[in-house]
Amino acid sequence: MEALASTSAADQAAAAQQQAREELLRGVGRVLLTEEEIGRRIGELGAAISRDYAGLNPLLIGVLKGVIFFMSDLLRAITVPVTVDFMAISRYDPQQRRKGPVRLIKDLDEPVEGRHLVFVEDIIDTGLTLNYLLRILRARNPASLEVCTLFDKPEHRLVNIPLKYKGFDLPDRFVVGYGLDYRGAYRHLPFLAELRPEVLRLAREKS
Ligand code: IMP
Repeated sequence: MEALASTSAADQAAAAQQQAREELLRGVGRVLLTEEEIGRRIGELGAAISRDYAGLNPLLIGVLKGVIFFMSDLLRAITVPVTVDFMAISRYDPQQRRKGPVRLIKDLDEPVEGRHLVFVEDIIDTGLTLNYLLRILRARNPASLEVCTLFDKPEHRLVNIPLKYKGFDLPDRFVVGYGLDYRGAYRHLPFLAELRPEVLRLAREKS
């Protein structure tokens, strides 16, 4: 009897898990890049950084939270000594209670003067966020400062930023997965996909 009861509880849990997964994937459209394609490209970026920074002990800097997947895979693809640090930003304006200008809410733990910095980004769209953060870092007199982005959406670019390392150019679509979220969801998907336009439309109607 007991065995039967626990089987049915396990079945219910499995069914609930399956339903939650289906619901999550309903918002997801065309897969643009598979986990394997992303992994292969990161291997190439890691090899290029290892070649260019041998003996320089570079500091990789990322912005939480979107970059966590890329940063950890990139670090493992780098074969020379390297260290890592993170910043965090907010685009929420508490006074206006809506999206406002970018604010730094967590600074780096380490000083960067005289260090070779590689700024690691998940995705660049207008370039305004990156431009703001690069200005802060440049003012701290690093020995060098370069950018490594996994994804680039060049169509909306408002500031011209030289990108030394780039994974993929993307079309002008809202994408999720591999660290990129929509309102906190979809970040953990191992692939990169378009978000269905209905999800964006519905969210806009609700807010
Ligand atoms: P930018 O300042 O316009 O370049 O915006 C860059 C930031 O916007 C990224 O770090 C992401 O947080 C977010 N972002 C831009 N495009 C996308 C997207 O397609 N999916 C998820 N987040 C995005």
